[in-house]
Amino acid sequence: MGKETKKQKVKEKKGHRSGESVRVLISQAQLRQRVRQMAREIRRDFPDDPLHLIGVLKGSVFFLADLARELGGEVSFDFMVVSSYGKGADSTGEVKMIKDLDVSIEGKTVLVVEDILDTGLTMKFLLRVFEEKKPKHLRVAVLLDKVERRIADVKADYAGFSIPNEFVVGYGLDYDERYRNLPDVCILRLAGRAKPLIE
Ligand code: IMP
Repeated sequence: MGKETKKQKVKEKKGHRSGESVRVLISQAQLRQRVRQMAREIRRDFPDDPLHLIGVLKGSVFFLADLARELGGEVSFDFMVVSSYGKGADSTGEVKMIKDLDVSIEGKTVLVVEDILDTGLTMKFLLRVFEEKKPKHLRVAVLLDKVERRIADVKADYAGFSIPNEFVVGYGLDYDERYRNLPDVCILRLAGRAKPLIE
């Protein structure tokens, strides 16, 4: 995680519903700067390849949209939808595919674009599915990495920010489908509960 300013530390704002509050963890400016750097790193590794981005809906939409515009060169993208079985931190880790890819990835340089790597179980499932489709290269870009929570043995090739074990919203990330439109990544607090459950 980058440096937090004093101002960010104290600024707790009201959330969208009573009992909910948010505070900025990563500002819009920090996001923009880091996404630009990540795009440069990716292009350095694959200067000439057309890049095929696969976004995992819905959390990755803003990250993918910003990354795609920073990448330059030939870029295409596709989306998939998955859902995890089980609720809370004790999820069984089973992942179900709701929407598969629209186009073949065989022989392509593929970049899986995810909002956050938490337990890593979703990514592990996705990589298994994608590897079977025989891409030329398969890489992972995540905006946020909650290293502490990792269960599955997966690592992002490109990670934006390592963050503490906090529930975050904004820049595409939601709590109960809300807060995705916050321009910053924020920590969400719920009155009377230490942490929202992760579904
Ligand atoms: P994993 O399979 O445990 O790595 O879970 C990844 C998914 O869990 C992400 O794509 C998010 O949808 C969700 N998730 C994990 N942590 C958070 C969080 O702090 N805020 C919002 N969603 C989260």
